[in-house]
Amino acid sequence: AEGKRETFSSRKLFILSAIGSAVGLGNIWRFPYVAYENGGGAFLIPYLVAILCAGIPLLFLDYAIGHRYRGSAPLAYRRANRKAEVLGWWQVLICFVIAIYYAAIIAWAAMYCWFSITKAWGDDAATFFMEDFLQVAPEAGVSLDIVGGVFGPMLGVWLVAIIIMVAGVNKGISRANGIFMPLLIVMFVILVVQSVFLPGAIDGLNAFFTPNFEALQNPGVWAAAFGHIFFSLSVAFGIMVTYSSYMKRKSDLTGSGYVVAFANSSFELLAGIGVFAALGFMAYNANSAVGDVATSGIGLAFIAFPTIVSAAPFGSVIGVLFFGSLVFAGLTSLISILEVIVAAFQDKLGWNRKSATLVVTVPVAFISMVLFPTTTGLYLLDTMDAFVNQFGILACALVIVIVFGAGLGMLPRLAKHLNRHSSIKLGTGWMVLVGGVGPAALGYMLINEVQTKISESYSGYPVWFNGVFGWGMAGALIVGAVLMSLVPWSKKSKLNDPE
Ligand code: PHE
Ligand code: NA
Repeated sequence: AEGKRETFSSRKLFILSAIGSAVGLGNIWRFPYVAYENGGGAFLIPYLVAILCAGIPLLFLDYAIGHRYRGSAPLAYRRANRKAEVLGWWQVLICFVIAIYYAAIIAWAAMYCWFSITKAWGDDAATFFMEDFLQVAPEAGVSLDIVGGVFGPMLGVWLVAIIIMVAGVNKGISRANGIFMPLLIVMFVILVVQSVFLPGAIDGLNAFFTPNFEALQNPGVWAAAFGHIFFSLSVAFGIMVTYSSYMKRKSDLTGSGYVVAFANSSFELLAGIGVFAALGFMAYNANSAVGDVATSGIGLAFIAFPTIVSAAPFGSVIGVLFFGSLVFAGLTSLISILEVIVAAFQDKLGWNRKSATLVVTVPVAFISMVLFPTTTGLYLLDTMDAFVNQFGILACALVIVIVFGAGLGMLPRLAKHLNRHSSIKLGTGWMVLVGGVGPAALGYMLINEVQTKISESYSGYPVWFNGVFGWGMAGALIVGAVLMSLVPWSKKSKLNDPE
């Protein structure tokens, strides 16, 4: 109910929480390699263009809808247009899938903080990760064989997350971000400084920054920049709609958006420096080229970094700082993902915070605990990530941008709302970007993704596996969203425009 809706107690806390969501695993383990592979220093150009032409304009669209219609994604969209509710549920279900595997990665990182001290991996980090730690089954499939060493820490992650969520926007989300984000920044800065002084670091930095301007002629490089920035700013996941619905009425929306985007990019750039300095050391140590050791994602974090931790002076410190950063960056993002789900059910069912949170998060945690701390968890994670995070979200974002950006003719109204109390005013330029450039960029990327996904069986997994957990799951999300939108709203929910 509108009257009782919580708000962030200050603009600072909103900004901090929005940064907490935006700064995630993607900044640390995704951006450095994407930049390196797509032109190095020259990547800065498509990256900046993508931020200014699509990332920030779409961030403002999320803010405008969430703040003006003051609801979780399904409620806010429904208030904007009866038929749009289903898009909110689509985002809720996407967030559900991401949440169940994100928690697993955070749990691995937490364990690796400890392993960094004991150097548990000996001299073969890859074998340790796959065989000793995750005990990955030889073939993709679904086993319910629980791996104890992952189950325990995952339970811990879920307990922490649930406690934060139950406590609500002010006592939970704001406070958690108020603690974890400063910690993250301090730890990460120390890590970067330490890495830069490792022998060989300079070669890593050269590899990262040396511009390859020819790359700019390749459309794939531009697509990579746009694709990364949507993901990195947590745009079109329903997250920013939900968070901005908790912002006080008279808020400087556009000013806050620029601060969030700037902080997110600064963190990425810093991560690029830290990660490539460390990779430079790894190459120096192995007597190989930086290009031979550069990777991203799970391989970077759980195989390359442990190798660096073992070889570097004060390696354990590097390990604790690196994996600790992953934990804090991941937790603050996980909270934002869960809030999309919790807020949606709270609005739809008219329940209070505590009941809605428990009824939503306990089953989510349960499903996560059944699927991921198992010998086949890694395969599931891999396929679900590929289909939901890199593909489902593109499709969803495209539909949202078409519907809200152009279809409903709402942009002038939303621009007016954004401008009301904002320091930076938006005009026709914003509408052109959201209504034209956004859909064009997303459409292009989506077509690309579909083609790759059809042409190569993802990761060489069996067809049935990708069929069920990739395509099937992506389809099930749409069916689920339609079903959820048919469930009647609680009598307590006010469905009219709060303006
Ligand atoms: N923005 C986060 C990152 O860069 C990723 C993320 C996506 C977080 C979706 C939450 C939801 O890592
Ligand atoms: Na990010």
